[in-house]
Formats: sequence, C-alpha cells, structure tokens
Amino acid sequence: NEDVFKKVISHAKEFGFVFPSSEIYDGLSATYDYAQNGVELKNNIKQYWWMAMVQMHENIVGLDAAIFMHPTTWKASGHVDAFNDPLIDNKDSKKRYRADVLVEDHMAKIEAKIQKDVDKGKKRFGDDFDEEQFRATNPNVLRRVAEMDKIREELKRVQEEEDLPGFKALIEDLGIVCPVSGSKNWTEVRQFNLMFGTELGSVAGDAATIYLRPETAQGIFVNYLNVQKTGRMKLPFGIAQIGKAFRNEIVARQFIFRMREFEQMEMQYFIKPGTQMKWYEYWKEERMKWHKALGLGDDNYRFHDHIKLAHYADAAADIEFKYPFGFKELEGIHSRTDFDLGGHEKESGKKLRYFDPETNASYVPYVLETSIGLDRMFLAVLSASFKEEQLEDGSERVVLNIPPALAPVKAAVLPLVKKDGLPEKAREIIDTLKFDHNCQYEEKDSIGKRYRRQDAIGTPYCITVDHQTLEDNTVTIRERDSMEQERVAIADLERIIGDRVSM
Ligand code: GAP
Repeated sequence: NEDVFKKVISHAKEFGFVFPSSEIYDGLSATYDYAQNGVELKNNIKQYWWMAMVQMHENIVGLDAAIFMHPTTWKASGHVDAFNDPLIDNKDSKKRYRADVLVEDHMAKIEAKIQKDVDKGKKRFGDDFDEEQFRATNPNVLRRVAEMDKIREELKRVQEEEDLPGFKALIEDLGIVCPVSGSKNWTEVRQFNLMFGTELGSVAGDAATIYLRPETAQGIFVNYLNVQKTGRMKLPFGIAQIGKAFRNEIVARQFIFRMREFEQMEMQYFIKPGTQMKWYEYWKEERMKWHKALGLGDDNYRFHDHIKLAHYADAAADIEFKYPFGFKELEGIHSRTDFDLGGHEKESGKKLRYFDPETNASYVPYVLETSIGLDRMFLAVLSASFKEEQLEDGSERVVLNIPPALAPVKAAVLPLVKKDGLPEKAREIIDTLKFDHNCQYEEKDSIGKRYRRQDAIGTPYCITVDHQTLEDNTVTIRERDSMEQERVAIADLERIIGDRVSM
C-alpha cells in the first residue's frame, strides 16, 4: 500500500540506499543516485544474476558493449519507427499523460470497486463466504467485469491498429478526467518516440543524430557473429549483458520503478528457427525459479502474458512482482524471432548467418530474450525486505531482511566499549574477514542502538567483541532476523560467515 511505499522511499534515503539526483538543485525528475549501501546492494544483485546466467551456463557468455551505437542500428531494430508511446495533454492543466496509462488507471479503479464488493460479501456471509462463487454470481461484480472486458478489448484494438482518434474517443467515452485539473478537456492523442537523441561531435543535422540506447539488447545483436566466431559457439548459445538504458518516459513515476536512465540485465539466447516456443517456455520457467529461489516469497510473483506485443516479438510474457503499489512488470521474456538479426542483415548488407554443422544449412538464428530491470529488482528486494516489527519487550524496530547474499554489509564488528583493547581486537577481526566480505566497524553509541542501525541497513550478522574475547578468543554473533546470539571462536568466524552469506 501507498503508506508502506512512502516509508520505503524515506528509509532508502535516510539509510544511504537511494538519493534524488542533484538534490542540492532540488533534484531532476525521475533520476536517482545509488548511495553507499545502495551501490553495494545493486552490485550484489548484478553478481547474483551474472552468476546464474553466465557462470552457471557453459553456453552463455558475457559482453559489455558501448552505449552509443551507429544510428542505423535503431533503424534496423525498428526503434526509430515503432518505439513510441501514445501521449495526450490536458488542455486546462497542460499536464501530459500516456493515453494507455490513463485507461489502465481507470480500469484499476473499477477493479478496486470489485474488490470492495467482494469485501462487503465477505463481511455479510462471514465463514460461509465462497469468493469464487460470489464473483461468478454477484450482479454488481459481473457488470463491472463485463465493463472491464469491453474496455480491455477496445484498448487492445486502438493500440494494435494505432487508431489515435479512437484512443481519444475511448478516453472521452470513459469520462476520464485529468488527475490534476479534474477536467475532460483533452488534446488529440499523438505518438511520441522514447529515444533520447544527441549529436555526435560538432556536426549538426539529422545525419549525425545518435541515440542513447533504449535497450542493451542491440549491442548484443550487432556483436552476434563476432562472439559466435571468436567463442566458437554452437547453437543454442546465449550472450548476457548488464548496462544502462535510456528512455524519455512521458510519465516517470513510482520512485526507481520507472526512470529515464536505468539499468538492464539482458540475455539473448540464439536458437534454431522453429524451436522458439520450446525455449520460450523453458526460459519463462527458469527465470521464475531464479526469482523464487531468492526467498522474497513465492506469492509475490506472477506471470502476465502480453496482449499488445512489442514490435519485435511473436510471444511475450512478464514476470510481475507485487510492489507496494501492486503487481507490476519486473522482467520480460520475449520471443524475438529473427526480427533483429534480419533487420541488421538488411541494413548493414552483412550476413549474420549461422552454419549448422548438423544439417549443413545456414540460416539467421531466432532469439529468445530475458530482460530484467536492475532498478526494479532493487526495488523488489528493498520493498519486500522492509519490516516494522513490534518486539516482545514492547519496543519497535525497522529491519531490512534482505537475503544475506545480497545484503550491502555482511558483518558489522562492534567492540562493546571503546577501551580496554576491544577496538583493536575488533579491527583485527575485520582484517581477517574483509578480503571476502564487506564489513563495517562501529563503536559509537550503545550496543542496542548499533544493532538497530545495522538492522536498518540489513546487515545479517553483528559480531560483538567483549572482555571475555580478550580471555578466550570468542565473540558473540547476533543474527539479524531472529536476533539470537551465539558464542563462537574467532578462528571459526571466516567459515561461519562465509557459509551463511555466500551466493
Ligand atoms: N530488450 C527488451 C526490453 O527492453 P522492455 O520490456 O521494454 O524490454 C525490459 O524492458 C525491462 O527493463 C523491464 O521489464 C523493466 O524491468 C525494465 N525497464 C523498462 N523501462 C524501464 C524504466 N523506464 N525504468 C526502469 N526500468 C525499466
């Protein structure tokens, strides 16, 4: 819910995860900087993905292509012609909206009304309530569901046919008002290209316009043959890449969920034409398994099959995550056919074929893509981990129970007091752990306060050095989630921490 979301955003700022960009100049809309703890979490997510995709697969290799690419790339990929969002302005407030988002928000309101009807039924019938039966028979619910179906169908039609006057008519027929002015005074719907253009060197004019890449995928496609040949790769094989992408989003909102500069972790899997449905199903399942293995809760994920396919896809599904503001896209799995390699063959005049030694035939491979937003994954981890807990002694704590492998700091080493040689001993311990783990030394404030601060940044283990340590070389380890403490030998620390925080 929105309240929790606000708390997550302010927690992210207060504890050094995410800052608004250029804050001293009042920020730049929808642009954020990753702070001292945020950058650690982000790097750990990258490593966790890279390990699963590249390190664990013999037939998937990495790449780090440039952000700038030859302008023809974006002609071949279809982005110049088709990477558009329909936008509409409200004439009174002068505010700009995405036409499809206005309609989707309207549908979300109807869905909320259906939920209200269901809740009322629950109250009335108590334990006897059968939700499925209620949804199938209640006249109010049925009427609203039919209304939603009609809207969804018309939305699909105007999108597929690019019927812009029809889009405007749909918004007017639904009586959608501008959230700012409350007026229904809309302009026409126009297509708006999402790519950021810039000029190369000092030459002005169209010929020199280059774009900031709107997806990392094209860097992989243009290198397909280079990698295939130099790596002597056989189909099926994959190329994985992590990097920045840029889109001039009309409505950028929901914190780091929709930004104009963001990061993607993409993998293009090159396959034999005709096998795409098999690999589509395979990667859908594999990627879902990867998400669930992280332990943020299986109920937080669901598939959403696309009705409107991107210009390059013949099948597409999202893995959606339950953010505080509802289920939203976290990752896309797309069957891209030979759309991209075919387009690059045509525009470049270079053959991008694969010679199949088994059939002696050569062909343009098909591509199956998995594409996840790094920032959206970051937000998923952060919001699912954020917990406000009431403790047995009546006090409260805020804890981020981030999966230990992703936690920014793995262990904090805390001398009980700032004297008697305890700080020196604590630093000795850090010196043995820091080669493998990001550790933190903290000596300020009471031990209880220091535990709370570490809880708030999600540190899975606090190691406390006390006077007994000086006598027998043991310390206490406090575990973040259970808050339980155990006494262990310093000599065992490396092994214990290593076992518990490894990926
Ligand atoms: N190469 C395919 C592609 O780019 P997409 O569905 O447009 O497909 C893939 O984007 C992923 O990138 C999305 O699932 C989402 O996680 C992330 N993403 C897209 N636009 C974003 C934005 N404006 N801000 C943050 N993440 C975004």
